[in-house]
Order: sequence, then C-alpha cells, then structure tokens
Amino acid sequence: MERDKPIVNTGLRGITVASTRISDVQGKAGKLIYRGYRITDLAEHACYEEIAHLLLMEKLPDAEEMARFHHSLAAERAVPDGLMDTLKTIPGSAHPMDVMQAAAAMLAHYDPDIADSSREAFQKMAVRAVARFPTVLAAWSRIRNGNDPIAPDPELGHAANFLYMTHGTKPDSDLVHYLDVCLVLHAEHSFNASTFSARQVASTRAHMYAAISAAVGSLSGPLHGGANERVMRMLEEIGEPENVDRYVEEVLNAGEKIMGLGHTVYQVDDPRAHILAPMSRDMGERIGEPKWYEISRKLEKKAKAAFRERKGTDIYVNVDFYSASLYHAMGFPTDLFTPLFAVARVAGWTAHVLEERFAEAAPKPMLYRPSSEYIGDYCGPEECVFVPMEER
Ligand code: COA
Repeated sequence: MERDKPIVNTGLRGITVASTRISDVQGKAGKLIYRGYRITDLAEHACYEEIAHLLLMEKLPDAEEMARFHHSLAAERAVPDGLMDTLKTIPGSAHPMDVMQAAAAMLAHYDPDIADSSREAFQKMAVRAVARFPTVLAAWSRIRNGNDPIAPDPELGHAANFLYMTHGTKPDSDLVHYLDVCLVLHAEHSFNASTFSARQVASTRAHMYAAISAAVGSLSGPLHGGANERVMRMLEEIGEPENVDRYVEEVLNAGEKIMGLGHTVYQVDDPRAHILAPMSRDMGERIGEPKWYEISRKLEKKAKAAFRERKGTDIYVNVDFYSASLYHAMGFPTDLFTPLFAVARVAGWTAHVLEERFAEAAPKPMLYRPSSEYIGDYCGPEECVFVPMEER
C-alpha cells in the first residue's frame, strides 16, 4: 500500500493558519500591537473599556462613543438569576476556571440572540460576554466563601466595578488603576492556544458561547494562562530569596520547567512583563510584602543564567511571571489569577470570533481541519481483516 509521507508540524509552530487585523505579536522585536497600537502606549493611556471597544468595534472610541460603550457594558453586567442560582449549587472546592467555563457555556441559555447568526447579534453577545465575565467571577469568589453576590454598580468603570463586586466596598483608586492596566495587557494576544480554540470552534459556525467556553478551558492549562497560578505556588515553595539558587538548580537538573519563563513566539522578554514588574514591586512594598517581587527578580536572573549555561540559548520571562506576585499583592487568592486573565481575554476571544465569522477581506477564514500522520498498526502491508468477537 503506497502512502504519501506527510510533513508533520507538531503544535502548528510557525504555521500561518489565518489572517487577522486584530493584533500582531512581533517575537524578535518584543512588540505587541492591538489594531496598530503599541501595547506600551495602550497600557499607559487607555482603560480596559477603550481596549474592548478597539478590539470589538475596530477603533478607539471618541468621548461620545466611549460613553455609549460604557453604558452598553454597564447595562449588560447583571448575570441572569438562573445562572446565579446554579453557581450556588456548585461545590465550593471547584476551581474558579472550571466555574468560569461552565458559566460561559450557560450564558448561552439566557441570551435572547443565541439563535441569531447575524453580525449584529454576535456583536451584542460579545459585549454581553465582556460585561458578564467579571460579574460571574466576582459572584463565585463570594458564593464559595458563603457570601451573597453583590450587584454591579453602573456608575463604576469595568475594573472598579469588578473590585466593588468582589469586596463590597468602593475600591482604592490605585488598585483600580493597576487592575485596569492588567486587564489591558491581558486583553489580546493573537493566535495563542485559547484564542485558536475560540476561532476553531467559531469556524464550525457554532455560537459565541460555544467558542468562548472552549477558550476558557484552553486557557486553564498550566502551559497557557494557568501558568500565573503555578508561578505563585512556585514563589511560595521557594519561600525566601536565599532559596532561589537551590530551587533553580533542582528544577533544571530534574528536567522540569520554571513557570513564567519561555514563550512560543517571543525571543526576548515579553513586553508585558516589563510593565508588570515595576507594578509588582510597588504593590508588594505598599502591602509590606516586598519579598515576592524580590524572589521573582532573583529567580529571573538566576534562571536565565542557568538556562544559558545548560542549553547555550536564552530564555525569557513571559506575562505570567510578574503578574503572579502582582495579583498576590493586590489581594487576589491564587486560584483567581487565571480567571482574571479570562476576564480580560474575553474581549480578544470575542473579537476573534467576530473576525472568524464575519471577516470580509480575503483570505477569508474557513473551517479548520488539519491533517495527522497515522502511526498506528496495519496488519502487514494492508488493512486488518475484521474478526468477529466470538472468533478473537
Ligand atoms: N523552564 C525550563 N526549561 C524550559 C522552559 C521553562 N519555563 N521553557 C522551555 N524550556 C526548555 C524545554 O525544557 C526545552 O528543553 P529541551 O530542548 O532540552 O527539551 C526547550 O526549552 C524548549 O522547550 P519547549 O517547551 O519546546 O519550548 P516552547 O517554545 O515550545 O514552549 C512554553 C513554550 C511556553 C510551552 C514553555 O516555555 C513552557 O512550558 N513555559 C512554562 C509555562 C509557562 O510559563 N507558560 C506560559 C506561557 S505565556
């Protein structure tokens, strides 16, 4: 039996599967661009709602558009009662990412536009998803601790409202600003695993929530968004700055990975890490716990040097490395770190679903269907002859 030998591109690295107008990750230059704008500028000057507008409506809003968009988001923040009631039935031990994934799928049951496959309907669902993700997460973080969820406050911005719904008090303005920057930095990152999951599901013409619940599941993995939670657990395991050197040696000698290092695209430090690092230092000092930043800094230095010594190549910090100590200093429980990533990234996912479904420029997206190389058995040169069960 003559068969073509396929070229196997494990993990699709370096394979361009679609065109996008949403973002560009320049691996060598260490640049991240949202619709033409540098992340460094956006993080300094724009709030998350502006970024969500940029991603979903394809332009930065002027003042009037911003006011309208804020109003649309604020009007959609409340989560349907049925979903809230279901959250109350979930065991408190459930991981918040699993709760987010289930809730993302459940949002479909309550969406009045779910059966409508027009662009307008998808756009409305995108706005609802961006508006409701923080409400679900804040509600779950309270319900699992035996507290009642807090209704959103339409007067507050996206980041401030999330903190208010989580803690029940009007948040400190520095904390709001820091969270806002984190949300901006995590909002979008091109064809990473979770976004590709969303696009792949959308390519089948499945609805918005099918795509974003798949994306949440994909983000939860430790090699992707789940890394920020693992970074914090690693910092806690290290415990003190003087333990860093020994920890790095042990991990690398065992052939294991140091979480928060390495990236499939960046060949320099992740530009987001350079923005997050000073924020982690400031917040750590502010709460009187500078050691998590100090351990991170020492770990970065030591791991980079040890990696180069062993492999002869460089390794760099990614977005999850400093976000962990920052989120910790901001008072978030460690298992909420990845869900916070999802709360930000839902803007990117929904923008990609819109592009996947409604892109007008060629080349238009099409159903993803990669090939695989069969390396299983045949019975000799031909297919096996089926033997009925009683004769096996
Ligand atoms: N710590 C130690 N070694 C690492 C490493 C890390 N964080 N990341 C990669 N390496 C090593 C691998 O062990 C491998 O070594 P080998 O060639 O001797 O087997 C080599 O570098 C290439 O690793 P690979 O996993 O193939 O690199 P990649 O570019 O495909 O993977 C990641 C990128 C993100 C999956 C990988 O760097 C990783 O697992 N990082 C830790 C998890 C993380 O922080 N994820 C968040 C990403 S934003």
